[in-house]
Amino acid sequence: MRYPYSRQEITPDDIAAVTTALTGEHLTQGPQVAAFEQEFATALGAPHAIACSNGTAALHLAYLAANLGPERGLLTSPVTFLATAAAARMCGAPVAFADVDPGSGNLTPATVAAALAKTAKPIAAITTVHLGGRVTDLAALREIADAHDCLLIEDACHAPGATYRNAAGVAHHVGACRHADMAVFSFHAIKHIAMGEGGAVTLRDPDCAHRLRTIRNHGMSRRPEDWQHPPEPDAPWYYEMADIGYNYRLTDVQCALGRSQLRRLDESLRKRRRIAAFYREHLDDIPFVRLPALPPEPEEHAWHLFSLAIDFTALGRTRGEIMRALADAGVGSQVLYIPLHHQPYYREQTNRPLPGADAYYAQSLSIPMYPQLTDDDLQEIVAVIRRVLRP
Ligand SMILES: Cc1ncc(COP(=O)(O)O)c(C=O)c1O
Repeated sequence: MRYPYSRQEITPDDIAAVTTALTGEHLTQGPQVAAFEQEFATALGAPHAIACSNGTAALHLAYLAANLGPERGLLTSPVTFLATAAAARMCGAPVAFADVDPGSGNLTPATVAAALAKTAKPIAAITTVHLGGRVTDLAALREIADAHDCLLIEDACHAPGATYRNAAGVAHHVGACRHADMAVFSFHAIKHIAMGEGGAVTLRDPDCAHRLRTIRNHGMSRRPEDWQHPPEPDAPWYYEMADIGYNYRLTDVQCALGRSQLRRLDESLRKRRRIAAFYREHLDDIPFVRLPALPPEPEEHAWHLFSLAIDFTALGRTRGEIMRALADAGVGSQVLYIPLHHQPYYREQTNRPLPGADAYYAQSLSIPMYPQLTDDDLQEIVAVIRRVLRP
């Protein structure tokens, strides 16, 4: 595909960083991991970041820390990747969905409050997804979470570098955890920071950060203050496992790549914002097509996705026909996401109706969005889209 809907950007600096890490002393947990964690946390304004093997592992770690389980469920958006809810099922927790705003595909305070009023089991955590890089109303969701005695978690896999305002109008970075208890990121190949696979949890609570680090590494603690049965004080070989843990470690090699990518995050966000502005200027007059709304100033979108809302019925063509015609002309497109309550796994066990999510899904189509797109590329993509969508 000439222009896939997304594509990773690997520079000579990235390759040099990986090569250096490969010839270092550590391949798994070494200095690159610690340095990445520190730099990522600093970039977002969070005190702690725990790097782990992927975004799904990050969600699982966050849900374990939130003590999700059979009697303590998750409330989340149905318009997200499978992992947001599946990680709760890995804890044995029930999953309930709140509806979304049909325009943005995001949870709103009203839909979350309505869903909480209806859930049968206690909800331990609300996970809000910043779909495509557009931040949800974290300040209002915090108030709702407090009123229902549950944690607020950001699935910020699409939104590193996005900002939002608090009630006083002060801007915060997604993942700074000024309102959420934890935020979860993915460093999958097509995300803003690409490591192939990778993830992180950011948070403020130092004890919870230690717990997450322990669960990430088999539940092993080498900290004497955690030990229940030390054979001698400060035994240099000794560790204890007090609870179940996993191998969710990220490697030094991946973190070397991540550090190099992180250095370009601001530049990559600027390029994504420029691409979004270009699309907004050149696609805003096509019949039966709506463009994604901009967040109110001074909030900043992270533009992981640029999703059109197309009224396929009015256009008289199916989504499949449009996708195939775009692909034939070299332009990739994708549907993000098939709502989770449509999946066979959830059909029997979750609440519905979710008309906002169904309406969002019926019209959504994401078009190419990645920093390498030049003006010439964009001119070509826009020309193809205009031709294919001509009524
Ligand atoms: C919104 C969202 N949540 C969670 C994940 C899971 O991340 P990963 O693929 O790194 O496990 C992804 C990645 O695809 C995602 O887009």
